[in-house]
Amino acid sequence: MARNFPHPIPASWYAVAVSGDLAIGEVVSRDYFGRQLAVFRGEDGKPAVLDAHCPHLGAHLAHGGTVVGSRIRCPFHAWEFEGATGVCAHVPYAKRIPAAAHVGAYPTVEKNGFVFAWYHPQDAPPSFELPDLREAGSEDWSTPDRYEWEVRTQIQEMGENGVDSAHFQFVHGALNVPTAEVESDGPSRRNYQPVNLKTPRGEVDGGIESQVYGMGFAITRFTGICETLELACSTPIDKESVHVRYAFTQPRVDGADPVGGVAAAIIRDIVKQMNEDIPIWENKKFCERPILCDGDGPIPEYRRWCKQFYADAP
Ligand code: FES
Ligand SMILES: [Fe+2]
Repeated sequence: MARNFPHPIPASWYAVAVSGDLAIGEVVSRDYFGRQLAVFRGEDGKPAVLDAHCPHLGAHLAHGGTVVGSRIRCPFHAWEFEGATGVCAHVPYAKRIPAAAHVGAYPTVEKNGFVFAWYHPQDAPPSFELPDLREAGSEDWSTPDRYEWEVRTQIQEMGENGVDSAHFQFVHGALNVPTAEVESDGPSRRNYQPVNLKTPRGEVDGGIESQVYGMGFAITRFTGICETLELACSTPIDKESVHVRYAFTQPRVDGADPVGGVAAAIIRDIVKQMNEDIPIWENKKFCERPILCDGDGPIPEYRRWCKQFYADAP
């Protein structure tokens, strides 16, 4: 392979939709995990994620399919599949439903303003949980400010950025090479980086704290000037491209979302950093045995941590 990306798609929870973009009874087509999916919200309010193609004669459930209760009805011959299990529960013109009539179903949870599906290459059940964030949806925190990108790379390559201390200076113009503290705990990982912020009123102590849950979800809290929470969702489209969604929220001031000023500048700067990283990611290759020096961050440790998500890959 030209770009030398050796990794399969890692097992993890991945965002497949923004909650507010999926109305009750709505069906959308999504291409993730190198597969085609039908994502819908049942009349019971529950989101569901199924493989898109009907096992009867192959119609695409998200192109003309309709939601009936907690099921999706195929647009071709009206077979109905349960959102939670993918099992065919109704064939309007048959006396017996064939035993094999089901589509692949993905464990699905809705948290923090996103719908997440669990991907595992052999369909093993989820091995960890995502957190519920107190700030997400709270009256005291601003309406999420959302951004999205499609990036031609692998998630492991993007995640490596957080521990690649030296690039902050040379790609993002940081004043020095920040040192990060990193702690891993099973599928979770925490990075903390103190930062010294220069403001017109002098220097302010701040920090960037990231908590990562598997390969698809990270929460980063920026403190110092205007507390900012970034929810970052990375979802593999296929083996070499990733859909990234960021949602930012900040404390409301007198009940209103902050407008402009420092609050907006922080978000602008984080988005700018993403845009600076993209051309590197999209054109680099993966170095299996990089030549590292003493000023580099804990890249080998990060790579070891990633391995757990490929453990059951074929
Ligand atoms: S193809 Fe889906 S019901 Fe026939
Ligand atoms: Fe970066």
